[in-house]
Amino acid sequence: MHSPSTVASTIGGPTMSSALHLRDGGTSIVLDLRTDSVPTIVYWGDDLGDISAAAVDGLALAAVPQRVSGGLDVTARLTLLPQPSSGWLGTPAIQGHRMGRGFSPRLALTDVSVDGASVTVSAADERRSLSAVIELEVTPAGLLRQRLSLTNTGDDDYTLDSALMFFPVPADADEILDTTGRHLRERSPQRQAFTIGSHVRESRRGRPGADSTLLHAAGRRGFGFESGLVHGVHLAWSGNHRLVAERTPTADGFLAAGELFEPGEVILAPGQTYRSPDALGSWGEGLSALSARFHDELRARPSHVARPRPITLNTWEAVYFDHDVERLLALADAAASVGVERFVLDDGWFLGRRDDEAGLGDWYVDRSVWPDGLTPLVDRVIDLGMEFGLWVEPEMVNPDSDLARAHPDWLLSAREDLPLSARQQQVLDLANPEASAYVLERLDALVTENRVAYLKWDHNRDLLEPGDGPSGRARSRENVLALYDILDTLRLRHPHLEIESCASGGARVDLGILQRTDRIWTSDCLDPLERLQIQKYTGLVVPPEMMGAHFSSPVVHSTDRTARLELSAGIALIGHVGIEWDLTSLDEFGLAAVARWVRLAKHYRDLVRTGSVVHADRSDDAIDVRGVVSHDREHAFFTITQARTSVTLPPGRIRLPGLDPTTEYTVSVVEPSPEHHQPGQSPLAWATGLSASGRSLGTAGLQAPVQFPGRLTLIDVHATA
Ligand code: DGJ
Repeated sequence: MHSPSTVASTIGGPTMSSALHLRDGGTSIVLDLRTDSVPTIVYWGDDLGDISAAAVDGLALAAVPQRVSGGLDVTARLTLLPQPSSGWLGTPAIQGHRMGRGFSPRLALTDVSVDGASVTVSAADERRSLSAVIELEVTPAGLLRQRLSLTNTGDDDYTLDSALMFFPVPADADEILDTTGRHLRERSPQRQAFTIGSHVRESRRGRPGADSTLLHAAGRRGFGFESGLVHGVHLAWSGNHRLVAERTPTADGFLAAGELFEPGEVILAPGQTYRSPDALGSWGEGLSALSARFHDELRARPSHVARPRPITLNTWEAVYFDHDVERLLALADAAASVGVERFVLDDGWFLGRRDDEAGLGDWYVDRSVWPDGLTPLVDRVIDLGMEFGLWVEPEMVNPDSDLARAHPDWLLSAREDLPLSARQQQVLDLANPEASAYVLERLDALVTENRVAYLKWDHNRDLLEPGDGPSGRARSRENVLALYDILDTLRLRHPHLEIESCASGGARVDLGILQRTDRIWTSDCLDPLERLQIQKYTGLVVPPEMMGAHFSSPVVHSTDRTARLELSAGIALIGHVGIEWDLTSLDEFGLAAVARWVRLAKHYRDLVRTGSVVHADRSDDAIDVRGVVSHDREHAFFTITQARTSVTLPPGRIRLPGLDPTTEYTVSVVEPSPEHHQPGQSPLAWATGLSASGRSLGTAGLQAPVQFPGRLTLIDVHATA
């Protein structure tokens, strides 16, 4: 890490001939100010060190393109605000108009002000009555953060159609990685060549969506987790968005990010300002290094959960809607007996909620099921030494609810009729102050009355035609902002309350929501083999301690596959560990086995909460190797998972990445017990432990255990004293 620093040659009036070097957290950016338009990022990547102003200037000069035949007299550059008025013919930064007029502003530089590793760039077009401010910062974690605001300085309305922030990538980045997915299979990676044209990923779901790309990345072909230069961008926003990877015939490739507006959604009145969410860029030699910057950034937040992540039991897959006080009390007893520390009562506790067809919106305890309210359960949970958590889905309403019957006008719609339903539910218009006040009052009361330490905040449908009713005004982004307000207020009122962002699993995973919540529900899929990929790619941005990872009953509900406890629990270790299983169905041996994995989770959770996640790049994906290495690289653990059969047997050697090459480590098998081996096979030579240097473990590696598919080996790695 370096302390933030800046090197600039003269910053002067509107015609500038200088460049600016910002550096922090191992990252440098260089901005070319040699223009009367808006600055251009000419370098973003590895820390350039303490170079002179002349060298910074030289770097900027080296990036100035020549004029070419068939082109404009000035070759356009990817400035921070690329616009046609400076010759830019690719995707522009700003698109908008005043009732069809003033479509092409010329936002010219008016000011650059530098503060440590942050710079604020101001630009204006007085004739078109627009001004823009771009705040750009290299953060202590080495991320490049951008934020854009646009002000209507005129005296009539300005309709903003699009506003994007731009991140250049190296000229030889020739492969794009993004993620897609669906319910139960979030964050599936997809790769393609980064050719001329645009690869655009948009969400029109009013939330990011299970298919949204968590990261839009471009790197040198074949980049993996361990190696290959790669740059990526994430938009910290929980609504509609647009992420672009584009290469034009005249410029290097770039990534761009911004909100996606519904038509007419942002109309700036005179004097009004649009403020974008943060766009965050990271880079790394390999994806693990890129991700580590996001993880460091989140961990440095004052609000980041600093205490060990409590082992959680969530009741959903244990009882679903079958809420019965005695049954849940018994489940709480069983949970406490295996070492659970937080008991979360999922869907089914409120008025009329006997299945998923009714009740959403009526946030009062259903006395027909809970005659004495939740108190008996809350008391038992707290007496057993656990925290109490409660599921809510505050933005949703079933038409079959008292709320919908009393306030049909509180539902989002674009016309006279309601949008198509999903899971028999509609969406509350939180931009309606009465609706949001109701939600806030209910949540506040529930938290206080039931000593709720944790809310699982669900959101189980896409927003379709999210308008304010028959007038047909779009309300998608206003609903995101209203949601943020409610979360912020609730947290202010209940500073110790933790909140999980769930949306049918991982359909609302972004750093906008994570700025206000403490973890995400990664996926409804608890099949550990599916989880391998889901957690690996969610981890591109989200640190493991913020990723809910529960182990479940051996027959996995979402895939009907059978998974062994050590596989389920072993894969949950690199996450915020929990259980989603009717533990009352287990005998004493079953409970003891679960308790053993809970103890292991407690043993490793501080390492998970503070360390670096690493993934081994392997040509054979039958075996997955991942681990967490402490910051001082003195301690680590790895899981070696046989996802399916290997082509060769024995399967060959595996490498353990991320260790200190010069340190000698003791490697030992934690699970299964070292004497375990399959019939007909000799014991693994290193099963009872070995000493090796970090360099040899990272390069030569060690023989993978021969395992049946669906088995996992957990190993511990300690610097030899
Ligand atoms: C979807 C969530 O992802 C599940 O974990 C569960 O909370 C259900 N909703 C409850 O309806």
